[in-house]
Amino acid sequence: MTQWHWDPATYLDNMLAEVPAYAELQEQTAAATESLEATAVLELGVGTGETARQVLARHPEAKLVGIDSSREMLARARGALPEADLRLARLEDPLPPGPFDLVVSALAVHHLDAGGKQDLFRRVAEVLRPRGSFVLADVVVPEREEDVVTPIDGVYDLPDRVDDQLEWLRAAGLEAEVVWTDKDLAVLRATRRQRPG
Ligand SMILES: C[S@@+](CC[C@H](N)C(=O)[O-])C[C@H]1O[C@@H](n2cnc3c(N)ncnc32)[C@H](O)[C@@H]1O
Repeated sequence: MTQWHWDPATYLDNMLAEVPAYAELQEQTAAATESLEATAVLELGVGTGETARQVLARHPEAKLVGIDSSREMLARARGALPEADLRLARLEDPLPPGPFDLVVSALAVHHLDAGGKQDLFRRVAEVLRPRGSFVLADVVVPEREEDVVTPIDGVYDLPDRVDDQLEWLRAAGLEAEVVWTDKDLAVLRATRRQRPG
């Protein structure tokens, strides 16, 4: 698969230009972790560290492991997050084993197709401790066509509907809910059941 070229120098400006509610999405993602006890945190698609910085501001004692498939983006993140354990890895690869209190991801999982998302959600459930949570913020396919405001190329960007993703999270053994939406963006929170089933 061709790897999209992410440029950390222009990343933030591009996101602010292309995703109208980018700042709000980051804020809502971090806010969705606020009530959680999060000492061990895994971020999927850490990019330049924008999401991680806001999550860690709410959990200053947390130890962050972050993965990303872009060497350039990770290099920028290492400057912003010198304490974090940042690893070059794909979402499709085996995840760091955990257990984690919190797995968080913003604007990365929509690069997987439906099968890839379902497989990832199962693997996320496996690395969460019981009652640990997955906060997933992403671009989604909205109910109304007019709510599509984020540019989607249909090749590297493969968003899915919120309802489908809630179903896949539940099938993975997580209790899932929507905590925020705005047009074609959503933040979902899913908590691992105490016991399977
Ligand atoms: C839009 S950025 C999001 C970064 C950060 N969470 C934020 O919201 O600013 C998406 C990141 O996901 C990474 N990414 C995309 N597909 C990936 C994959 N299959 N495995 C690992 N990382 C991936 C990209 O390299 C990029 O750094």
